[in-house]
Amino acid sequence: MTRTCLAVILAAGESTRMKSSMSKVLHPVGGRPMIAHVVESLVDAGISSVALVVGRDADSVTSAANRSDIEISAFLQTERLGTGHAVLAAKEAIAKGYDDILVVFGDTPLITAAPLMAARQALAEGSDVVVIGFQTADPTGYGRLIVENGELQAIREQKDASEEEKRITYCNGGLMAINGDKALELLGKIGNTNVKGEYYLTDIVELVRAGGGRAIAVEAPEAELMGCNNRAELALIEAVWQKRRRHELMVSGVSMIAPETVFLAFDTEIGQDVTIEPNVVFGPGVTVESGAVIHAFSHLEGAHVSAGATVGPYARLRPGANLGRDSKVGNFCEVKKAEIGAGAKVNHLTYIGDAFVGEKTNIGAGTITCNYDGVNKHVTRIGANVFIGSNSSLVAPVSVGDGALVASGSVVTEDVPADAVAFGRARQEIKPGRAKILRERYQAEKAARKK
Ligand code: UD1
Ligand code: CA
Repeated sequence: MTRTCLAVILAAGESTRMKSSMSKVLHPVGGRPMIAHVVESLVDAGISSVALVVGRDADSVTSAANRSDIEISAFLQTERLGTGHAVLAAKEAIAKGYDDILVVFGDTPLITAAPLMAARQALAEGSDVVVIGFQTADPTGYGRLIVENGELQAIREQKDASEEEKRITYCNGGLMAINGDKALELLGKIGNTNVKGEYYLTDIVELVRAGGGRAIAVEAPEAELMGCNNRAELALIEAVWQKRRRHELMVSGVSMIAPETVFLAFDTEIGQDVTIEPNVVFGPGVTVESGAVIHAFSHLEGAHVSAGATVGPYARLRPGANLGRDSKVGNFCEVKKAEIGAGAKVNHLTYIGDAFVGEKTNIGAGTITCNYDGVNKHVTRIGANVFIGSNSSLVAPVSVGDGALVASGSVVTEDVPADAVAFGRARQEIKPGRAKILRERYQAEKAARKK
């Protein structure tokens, strides 16, 4: 689309009902602030400029909305006098002149690009105001869309609606597109003579018609227009978002045995033929390549899993974990900021942090990289084809050369050369017959005490 478009995002609410120390638009959905979801859909709908109307937490809201591919300006709405008043806080941006003005709410993160594009398309075809509406079984609280002969006549707010109008189930989602040439003039005409004494953006419909313009409504799925007022609604929105994202991944070739127990982040990338078992949580920044298996009860964040690798059950991959092809990180293992080479195995009860593990190396059960001295973090370098015996501690900074073997139970404090054996524990001593002597002595002492 060649038309220019400014999106005005209303995010000046107090978020009172969230009972939170931060603005509701900063609360995460799929691991990122809900306002960032709104901005992404706007970008997908072809906008390039955003005017953000902010109240509390203005700076954090602005930075949460910002991204490199848009031009963003923030406007402070100091008094909350209604949605019509809020849009006019961005007057300066609107005055720059755009073909389309899209007004959206910062607390409606499930909106996708499709209805926004449909609204812009309707402007391109000659409408002056296009309202995004939805059908609902329970319209209570919403503005009702009064449509006749395909044209939107008015939006009636709940408090101002007649009994007959209250029965209308076609509602205002709150999002609309306005002809940029007429926007400022129309917005300037909005008054506040209504039950709430607020400047209602929705009055723009009757105003545009009075001036001979055309208003219509386009319908979007109800789920896309869910707004967030409290934490219970936030949880519902999260659930819808998760369901949508899981579905997208499954139809792109990812198997999930119990999808309702898998939790994804906004940027989770999963390749074809990956299997995800039940109860897996993806924090932000995870990529999983094709054919990998994520076993049950694993938690991944900021991690990369290469093709054919297996993770878990009960594994934790923390930021900077990078698993090579066909490698394995098994049960009760934690990996942080570490490369696990192709075909390497970290099978049980292990912590690998700030480390490099070479190809085909085997890390025995209970191995710990001691990466922290209480002040600084240090690196452990383990070469290829190394065998680390069970229950070894590698005290970083330390390195183990290719092909080396560390005896189990070792505390490795010095570098181990390639192909060497490191033996870092006391040698075993055998005292023949000593157990029997001790046992007999203890039994005799016990019998003496009983007398
Ligand atoms: C609004 C619509 C209603 C629609 C509903 C959909 C109006 C008059 N009514 O009602 O038709 O069905 O949304 O959810 O537009 N805001 C500001 N500054 C203000 C007032 C509001 O930034 O002065 C922001 C709020 O933070 C919120 C959004 O605008 O994100 C909507 O405001 P709200 O008061 O929730 O409108 P509703 O009464 O829900
Ligand atoms: Ca609302």
